[in-house]
Order: sequence, then structure tokens, then C-alpha cells
Amino acid sequence: MTRLGREDVARRSASVEDTERLGEALAPALRAGDIVALEGPLGAGKTRFVAGLARGMAAKARVRSPTYTLVNEYPGRVPLVHLDLYRVAPAEIEGLGLEDHLESAALVVEWGGKLPASLRAEALVLEFEIVSETERRIAALATSGRGRELLTSWQALSAAPSHAREAR
Ligand SMILES: Nc1ncnc2c1ncn2[C@@H]1O[C@H](COP(=O)(O)OP(=O)(O)O)[C@@H](O)[C@H]1O
Ligand SMILES: [Mg+2]
Repeated sequence: MTRLGREDVARRSASVEDTERLGEALAPALRAGDIVALEGPLGAGKTRFVAGLARGMAAKARVRSPTYTLVNEYPGRVPLVHLDLYRVAPAEIEGLGLEDHLESAALVVEWGGKLPASLRAEALVLEFEIVSETERRIAALATSGRGRELLTSWQALSAAPSHAREAR
């Protein structure tokens, strides 16, 4: 997994609801063509984050882990395509037609470290870390122009008092 440069912003979550709110906060910034790559171990909260994000996009569908179904699509202000690459071999990823989805939808990808470098370079990368049973740390990184714009937006949108800051 390629490490990007320094991380620019990190948030703490003390509960599932916190993590969902941190996902929801990103929703207003997303547009078709955007890529959000979620990284970090099983149980870190990636799917809960997507549930909040989908809620923020006004998607009515229930968010489940796509580990078995691979791709879930939620209608909303901007359609949200949700993938989990955990069980997908790198060679298969090129065949998923992700670029086609990007024409009309935003893409949120669990195990986003497996994305082709060309797509990951455009992404907002969120690294999830398990701090304790109930605490998570979510660090944002981005290299490209659009990824950096999303990072800046999420930084601002997730800065509400209900979201505990890193240093507290
Ligand atoms: N602060 C937190 N944020 C998110 N999930 C948490 C948190 N604390 C405990 N959990 C638990 O961790 C698990 C996260 O699951 P999930 O979102 O499916 O992880 P992932 O998709 O990264 O494998 C859930 O069982 C949830 O109840
Ligand atoms: Mg998951």
C-alpha cells in the first residue's frame, strides 16, 4: 500500500454515531467523479462511515457491507457507488469498470489502498485506526487537486463542535 505524504487532518470518533456523523459531514462536498478511499483494518468503522455518508446524500437505501455483493449503489443528490475491495484480487479491479461509474456517481471504496494508482491519486484517502474498543481515529490524506479540495471541505464540514477534535 503506497503511503501518501503527510496527513493534513485527523478526527477522533468516540462512538458509531460519531463515525456516521463524520461520514455525513463529507456528503455536501461530493460530486460525480469523486473518489473516497477508505483504508484501515476490519472493524475500523469504514462501513459505518459510508452509512453516514449515504444518509448525508439523502440516500434512502440501507447501507450494508458490500464485502459479498461487491458493489452497492445508493440513489441520492449524487448517486453513491460503494465498493469493498477486501476480497477482490488486484488483477480483477481493472475489470470493474470504475471509470464508467465515475461519469455519473461518486465512489466510496473500502480497502481503497487496492485501487489502481491512477484512481487513488485522485482520491480523498481516509485512514481508519482502531484506538480502543469504542474509539477510532480517521486521518485524511490527499495528493491531487480534487482530493485536496475534498480534504479541505471535510476538514471544515467535520469541524462542528459535536466532532471531537484530535487534540482534546
Ligand atoms: N467509534 C466507532 N466508530 C465506528 N465503529 C465502531 C466504533 N466503536 C465501535 N465500533 C464498532 O466497530 C465495528 C465497525 O464495523 P464496520 O463499520 O463494518 O467496520 P469496517 O467496515 O471497517 O470493517 C462495528 O461493530 C461498530 O459497532
Ligand atoms: Mg466494511
